Amino acid sequence: MSGNGFPSKNHTMKTSVAIYPGSFDPVTNGHLDLIERGQKMFDRLIVAVLKNLEKEPLFTVAERVDMLREVTHRWDSVEIDVFEGLLVDYARKRNAGVILRGIRAISDYEYELQMALMNRKLEPGLETVFMLPAESYSYLSSKVVREIAQLGGPLTGLVPPVVEQRLRSKVS
Ligand code: PNS
Repeated sequence: MSGNGFPSKNHTMKTSVAIYPGSFDPVTNGHLDLIERGQKMFDRLIVAVLKNLEKEPLFTVAERVDMLREVTHRWDSVEIDVFEGLLVDYARKRNAGVILRGIRAISDYEYELQMALMNRKLEPGLETVFMLPAESYSYLSSKVVREIAQLGGPLTGLVPPVVEQRLRSKVS
């Protein structure tokens, strides 16, 4: 290991701790699909909820963490955590070598590319890995889910049942 916590150039150790960061306001079946794929690929998958003081979320960080824990408890290698500040600093702190992100459609690509390249500039030892959720979730986002809930539309198949219940009581 080099001093910064990442494997040094001539060290061949492969780190298989990945961080899946996001707002998760709330977790959707699309996120869950990616977590399921990710936990098969990495020894440890840390789902990290950003504590963003600028955004006005529907759910508090504690509520989002609660829901994530509930819907991921079947996977031993998945951990739910909270982070604030730079993602690369958090990755360094957690000794993670990979950032996992989902790309649903080409429209996600520009933002994801910018973020991945900026993170690479900030920390060249950190790799971003993109995975594709099932195509049936390609239209799904937390924003759309919040809107449907607020307008009283059906949420079946979009979010886990426990999240649906929480959404219903939040907007009622
Ligand atoms: O699910 P989201 O809201 O698209 O996730 C965005 C997230 C949390 C991955 C991104 O905003 C982030 O990493 N924020 C932390 C601050 C940071 O490191 N910014 C520089 C990266 S370009």
